[in-house]
Amino acid sequence: MAQVRLKGVTKVYPGNVRAVESINLGVENKEFMVLVGPSGCGKSTALRMIAGLEEVTAGDIYIGDRRVNDVPAKDRDIAMVFQTYALYPHMTVFENMAFGLRLRHIPKSEIIQRVNDAADILGIRRLLNRKPRELSGGERQRVAVGRAIVRKPVAFLFDEPLSNLDAKLRGEMRTEIHKLHIRLQTTVIYVTHDQVEAMTMGDRIAVMRDGIIQQVADPITVYDRPANKFVAGFIGSPPMNFMAGRVAKKDGRLYFDEGKFVVKIVEDMHSALTPYIGKEVVFGIRCEDIYDKLFVSEAPPENIVRVTCEVYEPMGSEVYLYLDTGRHSFTARVGAHDRPKVNQDMDLVFDMSKVHFFDKDSEETIV
Ligand SMILES: Nc1ncnc2c1ncn2[C@@H]1O[C@H](COP(=O)(O)OP(=O)(O)OP(=O)(O)O)[C@@H](O)[C@H]1O
Ligand SMILES: [Mg+2]
Repeated sequence: MAQVRLKGVTKVYPGNVRAVESINLGVENKEFMVLVGPSGCGKSTALRMIAGLEEVTAGDIYIGDRRVNDVPAKDRDIAMVFQTYALYPHMTVFENMAFGLRLRHIPKSEIIQRVNDAADILGIRRLLNRKPRELSGGERQRVAVGRAIVRKPVAFLFDEPLSNLDAKLRGEMRTEIHKLHIRLQTTVIYVTHDQVEAMTMGDRIAVMRDGIIQQVADPITVYDRPANKFVAGFIGSPPMNFMAGRVAKKDGRLYFDEGKFVVKIVEDMHSALTPYIGKEVVFGIRCEDIYDKLFVSEAPPENIVRVTCEVYEPMGSEVYLYLDTGRHSFTARVGAHDRPKVNQDMDLVFDMSKVHFFDKDSEETIV
């Protein structure tokens, strides 16, 4: 069991590639921390530095109370599961799982015990005598996880372990890793570019961009109160809708003026937005906070927005509407029964208590 702490950790690869920029991150004992961000943002580099597979250019890494910058990977007592499972093709599943323990000169009876226990947890006991080529992708993934479990590490590091699986299997394995964490009660740092995995698995999420951590918080906070426009657009599917416009003041009230529509800003947001009166801002609204006026009783008239519906996509349980204000295209997610006429105007209601505003230049959240 261990905390993992990164203090000002930076990685510069030869050729002055700045992969990770002064990261500060504290992962609590038994916590499931997800590092999420687009391709190339430095997630694997960060994880590999924690594992000891990559040297740290600057900063300190602690596992428990021990500074591990100079501790070789094999002595860090953590196990890593990679995207490519890297199983030994000529060894059986049992031998693959036992290999690391043999290298550590663990007694044979204990190896057998540990491999059998891990195989039971993962439901792969019947596969122990097979070779990797005789396994499905999902089974191979389980063996790779099993190989990490048998070591009884103080922390697990996962680098996109599910990205080689098809969508259904990915969903199943996601739940299994989640259950495994509850059962093993071990610190996990899990890297993914998939925001659904981040939201569903993480106790907390660290969102990265260009080597820099943008926000660290629990999934609901990241979703409801993103630190900036990047986080707002990255977490959530479909992504948050953004529209440029101005904050306007009229009769003591504040409005957002998009150019084609005007909506009233709720009073809770007034003080944050007062410095922006007359200025351009970016307005953000999630697709589930937009309603078809036909299905809203007593819609406040100042929250109604007239748009054109260009396409609708029935998803079974809901319908995605692709809409246009004349200035911005955006998406709404409405009830399964909703079938607006395509290429005709329709009225929407924005839930103005749920919207976001971002600074146009810094892209930081205003409110
Ligand atoms: N060995 C290396 N030498 C030089 N540059 C590297 C090396 N490894 C990674 N990089 C660069 O460092 C940056 C971060 O790479 P990294 O692999 O950490 O990203 P990532 O977030 O894991 O991306 P992905 O989601 O595609 O796996 C990228 O710009 C990459 O090109
Ligand atoms: Mg990577």
